[in-house]
Amino acid sequence: MSSNSLTITDNRTHRTYTLPIENGTVSATDFRKMRAGEDDFGLMVYDPGFVNTASCKSSITFVDGERGILEFRGYPIDVLAERCTFLEVAYLLLFGELPDAAELKLWAYEITHHSMLHETTIKFMEGFRYDAHPMSVVVSTVATLSAVYPDAKDVEDPANRLLQIKRLIAKMPTITAWSYRNSVGFPYVYPDNDLSYTVNFMNMLWKMVEPKYAANPTLARALDVLFILHADHEQNCSTNVMRAVGSSQADPYLAVSAAAGALSGSLHGGANEQVLKMLNVIGSTDNVANYLQKVKEGKARLAGFGHRVYENGDPRAEIMKSIAEQAFQVTGRNPRFDIALELERAALEDKYFVERKLYPNVDFYSGIIYEAMGFKPELFTVLFAIPRCVGWLAQWDEMQRSAEQKIARPRQIYTGERKRSFIPLEERAPAGARKG
Ligand code: CMC
Repeated sequence: MSSNSLTITDNRTHRTYTLPIENGTVSATDFRKMRAGEDDFGLMVYDPGFVNTASCKSSITFVDGERGILEFRGYPIDVLAERCTFLEVAYLLLFGELPDAAELKLWAYEITHHSMLHETTIKFMEGFRYDAHPMSVVVSTVATLSAVYPDAKDVEDPANRLLQIKRLIAKMPTITAWSYRNSVGFPYVYPDNDLSYTVNFMNMLWKMVEPKYAANPTLARALDVLFILHADHEQNCSTNVMRAVGSSQADPYLAVSAAAGALSGSLHGGANEQVLKMLNVIGSTDNVANYLQKVKEGKARLAGFGHRVYENGDPRAEIMKSIAEQAFQVTGRNPRFDIALELERAALEDKYFVERKLYPNVDFYSGIIYEAMGFKPELFTVLFAIPRCVGWLAQWDEMQRSAEQKIARPRQIYTGERKRSFIPLEERAPAGARKG
């Protein structure tokens, strides 16, 4: 018997089973052999929230939650954040290698030349009320691209997948910027092909009457680095949605729309907007202790704190802090930054947060930087969605290439009633008279 195996005795039958261990994992389907009797379905594993379940094999992003390590294709996140542009990292995530100069030039050219939206999509966007949340607009508008590009349904063709990937990466900033311009009643600014990915996004958001938009280079670089930090994070909630929807062979626009919907929640990407709201409620560093007390009493949650995977700190949060300092040199210090620093200091000295391994995550400082740069809080989560779209697509493409992947279809533990006698409508007791 291989020592790399697990031996289990089923005390119902006294049978012993040996399961191979591969990559520190046993196969869930091996448990099906463990049956109490002829009619028994076999054992299942129960894991709501996938706390300890690997759903795929992936070679894109490595996370070691205990040691606080994050790598894209083997490169540490801090090195990529310091040395690369966002489009370079996007290429790395999608193709597995950093591009050479010619590859990067071509890649940037191709992304740049897919950034326009079809005029019918613009009309669709104009149908939203002025106060529509940008995440709602992004989720819906990305889904409409499925109707604009019916060719995207051929998800088995790698070349076709790549075309849709380029379109999506290119159009996310345009959709986001135009959802903003719509909300403030400003005319849309069309993409400018002379500008980099990030600066063009800033151009589409903020250009007014000047003939050519010019971004502050420090802020443009800060935004580019923020995009790098958000580009992928292995099997998080929205990526899991991307894979689950994509596993049915739905087209990538519908899958990205669903993933963006998952990202919008306040426990996931929506947390960055919640952090700003929380810091506004706290109001000043003097109120931090009171707020932490409320959290400990279960009356509030600390937005931007805690992570399913990181147990000793999120490596992205530290990089965020240094970007904040750089951005504030241009924008002036955001007063909320001091509240955030005090909140972090006080929480990290408090047994309650230490015991629960609650540290600032990627969302804790990002909103403060975005606000200082001039973004409205409602835009914060779409600023997460733009770069994460790259991660979703890399993971989706990897899944389509995998021979092992099947349609995502978990099991359940049924806890409801069985074999009830049907009662005709006229004989049913009024709802108020039902027991329970
Ligand atoms: N504030 C207060 N208590 C918390 C927090 C928090 N932010 N996060 C976790 N806890 C407590 C939780 O109440 C529980 O305590 P107890 O053991 O007494 O019941 C314990 O810590 C374990 O928490 P959990 O909810 O079981 O942990 P989880 O892995 O299921 O949840 C999380 C992870 C990120 C959803 C959670 O930490 C959270 O809600 N954080 C705030 C929202 C947030 O910042 N989300 C962004 C995550 S990072 C970027 C991204 O993925 O988008």
